[in-house]
Parts: sequence; structure tokens; C-alpha cells
Amino acid sequence: MDMARIDALPGGGCGRLALTDGDREARDLFASWCREAGCTVTIDRLGNMFAQRPGRDNALTPIGIGSHLDTQPHGGKFDGVYGVLAGLEIVRTLNDHRIETDAPIDVVNWTNEEGARFAPAMLCSGVYAGLFDLDFALSRTDADGMQFAKELERIGYAGDMPCGSHKLGAFLEAHIEQGPVLERHAQVIGVVTGGQGQRWYDVTVSGRDAHSGSTPMAGRRDALVAASRLVLAVQDIALEFAPDSVGTVGEMHVTPNSRNTVPGEVQFTVDFRNPDDAVLSRMDEALRDAVARETAASVNLQMIWHNPPVRFAPACVEAIQAATTAYGYPRRQMVSGAGHDACQIARKVPTAMVFVPCKDGLSHNEAESAEQSHLEAGCNVLLGAALHLSSAVGHPENQTHDIIPA
Ligand code: GLV
Ligand code: MN
Ligand code: MN
Repeated sequence: MDMARIDALPGGGCGRLALTDGDREARDLFASWCREAGCTVTIDRLGNMFAQRPGRDNALTPIGIGSHLDTQPHGGKFDGVYGVLAGLEIVRTLNDHRIETDAPIDVVNWTNEEGARFAPAMLCSGVYAGLFDLDFALSRTDADGMQFAKELERIGYAGDMPCGSHKLGAFLEAHIEQGPVLERHAQVIGVVTGGQGQRWYDVTVSGRDAHSGSTPMAGRRDALVAASRLVLAVQDIALEFAPDSVGTVGEMHVTPNSRNTVPGEVQFTVDFRNPDDAVLSRMDEALRDAVARETAASVNLQMIWHNPPVRFAPACVEAIQAATTAYGYPRRQMVSGAGHDACQIARKVPTAMVFVPCKDGLSHNEAESAEQSHLEAGCNVLLGAALHLSSAVGHPENQTHDIIPA
């Protein structure tokens, strides 16, 4: 709730876009809490933050626990923040109980997870995992032409450490589910086995500006009418590849955006998702067919991001499953519908995730909410899994910690 005061919105949510003054304030607050808890904070070239609680053997690679502090423009209090602060809560709990882990524990804040300001999403966990180049990330620009590198420098979070050089032995992320499944089934924990694939597109529709009063309907080259047909095509494609496909047009810019001019240009985005990359390829073909059918305007379609589905490491999923069983929480295994930093990190480091229910399955919405007992359950499971992994990563034969109830 303290973190949610930063860039709070009137409807109860947060609008804390990456690399804004609010992001700096959130980072400063997070770092101060981590230092109070005895952690050392290091920052890489992309502003990814690692708050390390030392282990018994600091030569062992740390266990990372974290998520992101940036939000959507109309975001909630929990998406991302919960996962970062769950890591901090684990550090505080270990401190309170004077428990030493074998490997160090790193609480991680990944930069620009949302991709709302700088596309694509999960940009800096993506560089960490080797999926994007450093320069690709640094050169991203926002809708006003502001550059990622300059904004990172401006808020004082461009560190010296090369991105990806800070090794993690395993990575765990707790998150609200952002969908209705756990709530609907009265389950407390989602044991996440992987994430679905995503394809993001930028579309530019070019028609011709014309006078709205004196230009007959026949022969207009109205870019917004053409774009509207494509928006409906996105919807139809997602429905055609039911039940697992989703398709969204979330962003649109109309030019010149004047009441009495036929729009000459429209730019919009497309977000397609499905757990199966082969299905995403067929959705891609269907979108290209819809573009080819458009005759009133010319359409430029660019796929700017192809993020294949990912499976989490069985050993990490099992650690989460075992901790959930030990606590006796009702649970189900599930594939994540949302993208997460964990989905990128999993391509480099053994990774898994814990989901907890959120009210009405709502997220990317100011009304996002979660019950305290569920958030606590997620932390307990994360703690159990982290304790197991902090021993298992270095010493698989020596799992000495046992504070999970039998
Ligand atoms: C991030 O929130 C995403 O799933 O796009
Ligand atoms: Mn998130
Ligand atoms: Mn999000």
C-alpha cells in the first residue's frame, strides 16, 4: 500500500510507467527497504536491481526472487509489485527467524516489464536472458520519441554492471493470476508450469486526408474505416482459433485526428497469444490475409516481437508444488496467460512461478485487488521453494531447512 502511493490514480490504481519520476521514487523506496533488511543493492546497465541477502556460502549462485515495479497506464497495485515485495518479505522473514540460507537470496526488480512505455514487454529480463541485445533495449523510444537510454540515465538508474553478468542459480516469481481461474475454483495457489506465446505487431494504415463535408463517400480512402475492419479481423481470428487464443488491439493513433477531416493515417498495435506457437503461426497467416483483402488503404504490417511459449524447469515447478502440498493449500497447475519476467529468465535460468487469485480475475485495471490471506499463502509457498532451492542448487544432497509445516 505504501508503494501504491507513488503515482496513485483517482480510481485506486497506479500509473507508474517505466523510467518516469514515479519509477525512480518506487526504486528508491524499494532499495531503502532492502538496505534496512541488510541487503546490498547492485544495478545493471539496464537498471535491473538485485538486492542480495548473503548466504552461508556466497560462492554459490544466488536464488533470485522478484518481478517488476512499473505498471500499466491504468494499472493496479499488485501486478508486479506483489512479486517484488514477496521477495522482500521472504528476506525479512528469514531475518526474523535468523535463518541462514546456503546460497544468497536476491530480490530482483526487472526494468520495463510492462512494455506500455517502451515496447516490447519484458525488455530487460529479455536482455538478461540473451533474447535481445543491450543496444536494442537502450535505443527503444516511447510515443513522444524519448529514448530508453536517456530516460534511464535521467532517473539515475543506469548501473555499471553488464546486463546478464549477475548470475542466478534459480529464479522464482510470485504474481496475481490476472485471470479468473483460481477464484472460480476456490483455489489459493496456481503452480505455473510455463507461459503462452505472444506475437506483437505494429500496423500502419495509409489512406488520404480529405474534407469531411465535400468528399463523397464513394472514392474516399479513409484509413480509420480500413483500420476498423482490421480490428474486427483481429477479434474474428482470436475467436476462430478458440478456445485458447486471444487477440487485442490496445493502442491506436489517428492522424490528423480532426473531426472534419477524413483520417489519412492510422497506426495501431496487435497482441496475439496462444500456448502453441503453431497456432500463432496460423493466426499470423490469417492476419496477413485480412491485410491483403483491404483495398481502400495501403497497410504496412510489421511483427515487432515473436515470443515463443516457454516451459518452466521441472525442478523449480516441483519445489513450488511440494511447498504448496506441505501447506495444504488448494491448488491447480496452470499455464500463464500473461507475460512475465520469469518467462524470459526461464530461457537462461531454472525458473518457476506461483500465482494467487485476484478479485474478479481483473488486472491491468485500477480495481485490481487480492486478499491478504492469498498474498500471504503465495509468500509462504515462495519461501518454501526458495529454501529448498537455496540448498539444492549448491548441495542437492543437503536440504537442511524445514520450517514448512508437515
Ligand atoms: C504484461 O503484463 C503482459 O502480459 O503483456
Ligand atoms: Mn506483471
Ligand atoms: Mn502487467
